[in-house]
Amino acid sequence: MKIVVLTGAGISAESGVPTFRAADGLWEGHRVEDVATPEGFERDPETVQRFYDDRRAHLSTVAPNPAHVALARLEAQGDHDVLVVTQNVDDLHERAGSHDVLHMHGELLSAWCLACDGRFRWDGPLLDRPACPGCGDQGLRPDIVWFGEYPYELDRIDEALQRADLFVSIGTSGAVYPAAGFVRSAHAYGARTLELNLEPTNGTDLFDEARHGPAGTVVPAWVGELVAG
Ligand code: OAD
Repeated sequence: MKIVVLTGAGISAESGVPTFRAADGLWEGHRVEDVATPEGFERDPETVQRFYDDRRAHLSTVAPNPAHVALARLEAQGDHDVLVVTQNVDDLHERAGSHDVLHMHGELLSAWCLACDGRFRWDGPLLDRPACPGCGDQGLRPDIVWFGEYPYELDRIDEALQRADLFVSIGTSGAVYPAAGFVRSAHAYGARTLELNLEPTNGTDLFDEARHGPAGTVVPAWVGELVAG
């Protein structure tokens, strides 16, 4: 079976990575327009670099949870063709062992040079304006897709949705497009659709089936069923 899995912040919540829209989420403590738009970066680059530097540094203190591990197990088991499309900018899918992962909103561990357009793996801070490894310019910014910017890999994602037998959405509120629209596309292309989330979302009615509970529990249970055949 060809499976496209869309993940959001909820899959990393039990690893200790904050979600965006919860009462104690990232967007409660920050104004989106200040830290997640190109205009915010132009106005106050230090605040934006500090925000992502802190989140990048925090990554080394967290680890994949059973939901990430279950998805890697599903891929490794080999009976199904599994593509993980993630809105997350952490690297927990990769650390759990998933190989086919698309980061549609960019990655904390990548820096993008505005001078030469190069992208470089980056695990240190950017606040101190380090030189670009490609061209030496000090114009590196977080390789994160901000509001008003175009997400990565949309063509490849759409092709995968066209071929998919099953579309599974895990831990995402469905508040941000285009990801929130994938369930409609998948359905229109003929895939079965499944939502796995802590609680019902605004989009729950769009899915053929929904199961609610913590990802660390419901994802391994679902993968267990699939692997057992
Ligand atoms: P949200 O914070 O909007 O939604 C997280 C979802 O995860 C909610 O529906 C929660 O109910 C659910 N959730 C929380 N804990 C969970 C758990 N333990 N198990 C399962 N589900 C759980 O985060 P996203 O939907 O990922 O974009 O947000 C989408 C995009 O909005 C992000 O990629 C980011 C943000 O603005 C950019 O920065 C471009």
